[in-house]
Amino acid sequence: MPTDPTTRRLHLRAAGVSLVLDTTGGRVPAILHWGADLGPLTGTDLATLLAAVTPAISSNGPDVPLRTGILPQSADGWLGRPGLTGSRDDGSGTAPRLTVTGVRITEQGTERTLPAGEGTDLETGPALVMLDLADELLGLAVRLDVELLPSGLVRVRAEVTNTGDTAYTVHQLTPALPVPLDADELLDFGGRWTKERTPQRRAMVTGTHLRENRRGRTGADAAHLLHLGTSGFDFATGEIWAVHTAFSGNHTHHAERLSAGVQVIGGGELLLPGEGRLAPGAAIASPWLYGAHSAAGLDTIARRFHAHLRDRETHGGLPYPGTDRPVTLNVWEAVYFDHDLSVLSELADRAAELGVERFVLDDGWFGSRRDDTSGLGDWTVSEEAWPGGLAPLVERVTGHGMQFGLWFEPEMINEDSDLARAHPEWIMAPGPDRMPLPARHQQVLNLTIPEAWQHVHDAIDALLTEHDIAYIKWDHNRDLVEAATRATGAAAVHEQTLAVYRLWDSLKAAHPGLEIESCSSGGARVDLGILERADRIWVSDCIDPLERATMNRWTSQLVPLELMGSHIASGGSHTTGRLHSLSFRAASAILGHLGIEWDLRRATEEELAELRTWIALYKEQRELLFTGDLVRADRGQDAVWITGVLSPERDRALYTVTAVGTPDIAPVGALRLPGLDPRRRYRVRPLVLGPQPTGYVWPAWAREGADPATDAKGAGYGPPALVDHLDVPGAVLLRTGLAAPVMAPETAFLLEVTALADRP
Ligand code: DGJ
Repeated sequence: MPTDPTTRRLHLRAAGVSLVLDTTGGRVPAILHWGADLGPLTGTDLATLLAAVTPAISSNGPDVPLRTGILPQSADGWLGRPGLTGSRDDGSGTAPRLTVTGVRITEQGTERTLPAGEGTDLETGPALVMLDLADELLGLAVRLDVELLPSGLVRVRAEVTNTGDTAYTVHQLTPALPVPLDADELLDFGGRWTKERTPQRRAMVTGTHLRENRRGRTGADAAHLLHLGTSGFDFATGEIWAVHTAFSGNHTHHAERLSAGVQVIGGGELLLPGEGRLAPGAAIASPWLYGAHSAAGLDTIARRFHAHLRDRETHGGLPYPGTDRPVTLNVWEAVYFDHDLSVLSELADRAAELGVERFVLDDGWFGSRRDDTSGLGDWTVSEEAWPGGLAPLVERVTGHGMQFGLWFEPEMINEDSDLARAHPEWIMAPGPDRMPLPARHQQVLNLTIPEAWQHVHDAIDALLTEHDIAYIKWDHNRDLVEAATRATGAAAVHEQTLAVYRLWDSLKAAHPGLEIESCSSGGARVDLGILERADRIWVSDCIDPLERATMNRWTSQLVPLELMGSHIASGGSHTTGRLHSLSFRAASAILGHLGIEWDLRRATEEELAELRTWIALYKEQRELLFTGDLVRADRGQDAVWITGVLSPERDRALYTVTAVGTPDIAPVGALRLPGLDPRRRYRVRPLVLGPQPTGYVWPAWAREGADPATDAKGAGYGPPALVDHLDVPGAVLLRTGLAAPVMAPETAFLLEVTALADRP
């Protein structure tokens, strides 16, 4: 049935967010409001809203009000980054004028076409709106999907089809979302290997803040999430709008303020020359661009993404891991490439004794891979390193009741490998006689070549079929530079990224229950494209708990704790050389998917005993950690960090209090515990597992038998006995707080909080 798109306003509401979409006059869809819930609105109210937000006509500009479309276009007076650019080979087709030709909507799984003529305004809950747009003169059709998810996240994507008779090349397909000018501070991320996701803030000014990624993978320096909020926003305060481009290849994020008095945030794929070339009838789709709004700080943004991922299976993705995330032992920092069955069997035995539930064999088990110079691509077990094959180790591990996991790096190839010698044409290169610079002595295997994709698929599939392998650690250790199909020189990052997604999907379909971790030189592939299918991400190759405090804190802005690989390593960090106590290493790791990456043969009996208590605590708390709501706060000029997880019912919480630096003031005042229900009473237990940190002075509330009225410094230097618990009204914990101990730098303790009575 043909639709009448001429006067249509749709009001979608979910989780405290309103999204009002307008296609009045069939013009390119625009968002009239994206932000806090507006409450129920009538059709008249929606018409008034359109009038209310339509900007005045600026002097010295077009004679009609500026319209900021989701795919902004110059035809509407938009002079910022266009939503869609492209051209035909003769130079025509550069300025699309898209108009709406049809609107369909899916609510609660039911799709319907919105009828013509009546009910042109609509109010509903979470829903997917599918808009058909076209520029018939230019021979372009666009399908624009706009969705408000139950988590309150908005997501948009566009697919362009060439309906003309000649090839059309899409150069840029980048949706954008409007943000009020009240938001004038930006927060996004930089970083590098071993220091992923470092926050960076700046004032928003006129012009474009553009983050471009040309690494062919998400990148350790990815923008991650781009936030634009009211000045000084923090974890709990400020109004914020944020975007994330859900793609693991080249991509962009941007914030743009025009002198015409509007600003947007957006993002999309960064297409390399030729990647968007469409033969007649062909189409290209943008990745999803996610948008998150918060009326109360960064924690709300994070929680929306967490809720969305936890709901992955219902919105069409793959099954999501349960809350019993297995304690994992990864052997990388224990043995590196030095594989030996008896050593690894001993590690497996020790791990099992400690309560470890998954054992992961890392790089070095295949082909000629005795170091990182050769063998990548040869996915057959090395007879040299594993004369009896992998079976003896797999059986030892599974015999202990642990799962077995195996490392792969399927998108890569060493030039010194049997595969490279057999198929040099499968290596990505700008031409037959040119090779990109090596990185970690390796090149990229071109998975856009169907035979190469099938070869890798079958090699992995064979190993998964032969052995009881529950888990793959999927690595990706170099950027894609000059990444092209060698025979033609055609850029291939776009197709390579989609081929990798297909590879994961196919292996997971063939091996139900298989979990895959996304690792990329540590944490260089962390995005919602891969997270639609990944069961874990490796946050960083740096396991130093001080560095990890920052990385975990900001990785969790997007990624829920259950997906963040978080390991306890040996006392001396392999990447920074810093020495840390086990309690600091473990307390920093426990708010995540816990693992161990340490040669346990070198651990002392005391360390093993303490490790056992941490593992037991993790198992006790993981249900809470992996279903709860994240809260974060700072004290003492940002030197003491509080990170907590609260059950949705607010009857349980676990907080870590971490001294990441040395504050100028000590103690740092009261530790107010965010998120608790002020109407309840709680039992608070300070948890210090293992020896108390050196240099602490505990306040009276935390010391056994201390009377705050008469408290005097005790004699001697020994650590005091700590109280088992303290019962405190929620309002006091939330609004007054507990006096902080004087903390030594690079130490941490935990507070376990349990409600004393049923909900008031
Ligand atoms: C990089 C990863 O991040 C490490 O954990 C390890 O798997 C190495 N690659 C192996 O080469």
